[in-house]
Amino acid sequence: MKVFITGGGGFLGYRLARTLLERGTLTGRDGKAAPITQIKLLDTVFPPQTDPRLQRVQGDLSAPGTIAAALEPDTASVFHLASVVSAGAEADFDLGMRVNLEGTRILLEACRQLERPPRLVFTSSVAAFGGELPATLDDSTTPKPQTSYGTQKVIGEYLVADYTRRGFLDGRSLRLPTIVVRPGKPNLAASSFASAIFREPLGGEIYECPLPDTTGIWLLSPRKVIEAFVHAHDLPETAWGSNRVVNLPGITITIRQAVAELRRIAGREVAERVRFKIDPRIKAIVDTWPVRFATPRALAMGFSADSDIESVIRDHIREQGIAV
Ligand SMILES: NC(=O)c1ccc[n+]([C@@H]2O[C@H](COP(=O)([O-])OP(=O)(O)OC[C@H]3O[C@@H](n4cnc5c(N)ncnc54)[C@H](O)[C@@H]3O)[C@@H](O)[C@H]2O)c1
Repeated sequence: MKVFITGGGGFLGYRLARTLLERGTLTGRDGKAAPITQIKLLDTVFPPQTDPRLQRVQGDLSAPGTIAAALEPDTASVFHLASVVSAGAEADFDLGMRVNLEGTRILLEACRQLERPPRLVFTSSVAAFGGELPATLDDSTTPKPQTSYGTQKVIGEYLVADYTRRGFLDGRSLRLPTIVVRPGKPNLAASSFASAIFREPLGGEIYECPLPDTTGIWLLSPRKVIEAFVHAHDLPETAWGSNRVVNLPGITITIRQAVAELRRIAGREVAERVRFKIDPRIKAIVDTWPVRFATPRALAMGFSADSDIESVIRDHIREQGIAV
């Protein structure tokens, strides 16, 4: 079974690739575990040391011919993660439209030309929701995105659903909570604060939080989201039916609770490295995002969230080898 991951050089794409290498199999259309024979990553940049068992294609998803040349005719599984992230797509409208919208359409068209309709997992986002929202969103809440990024993700979901209905592919879209803790450097996502609030103080740095401490976050750990990608892929078509998008489960915390938990786990000195300097531009984007969800459909389908914020922080501490 050949696997293709767009955004395979990124935070979640590369993690997914390593997980698939360890796992060695994915479920095929017949419901049986099939050995993975190739994992190909498409991205504009890659980590400095990529596992040699992974094939890399460096290129722009939205450039003419890139996908068609990279995607092998017998590819069975596609994970579409490449994206210009939220604040990036808000700052550069044309770039967001080109990569997030045109790029997705180009990928879906290329999938349509494959020997057999592939299974495709698309990473959407809770940025699909915005505007006037109920206190707790649920599976029946209508997406009304208030950012270009959110709009591009929702259009992607609809395209994935229609290409599926037409029988061109077997698509599954996941609305991801904010993934915390993201290691490394901050990125252009407006949600960058949600990881930085843990990562920077635990790494010995002062962090200037751009949002007030009453701000809520709907989050999921990297470990759980990778588990969700594989689970979404492996579920039979009947588990999805005609509804090809699901809100993933997560947990809700406020920044104040995050700092309190940091203090409890890592001590007062670490927690006091969080300072506040409000950035109205980031605040305007984050204020449109929902923070509380009921996700009965996802839970019934077998997706799950982290048990609590402590386990999310401890995952990061363990992975990064931080002494606390
Ligand atoms: N991390 C989160 O909190 C979060 C939350 C909601 C949704 N998502 C979605 O999950 C996916 C993965 O997110 P991530 O956190 O790994 O982000 P990331 O920025 O680390 O990875 C995205 C990758 O896409 C690549 N990319 C961008 N433009 C490209 C182009 N034109 N051609 C080819 N590759 C291109 C980037 O180089 C990057 O490596 C994205 O689609 C993102 O929108 C992430």
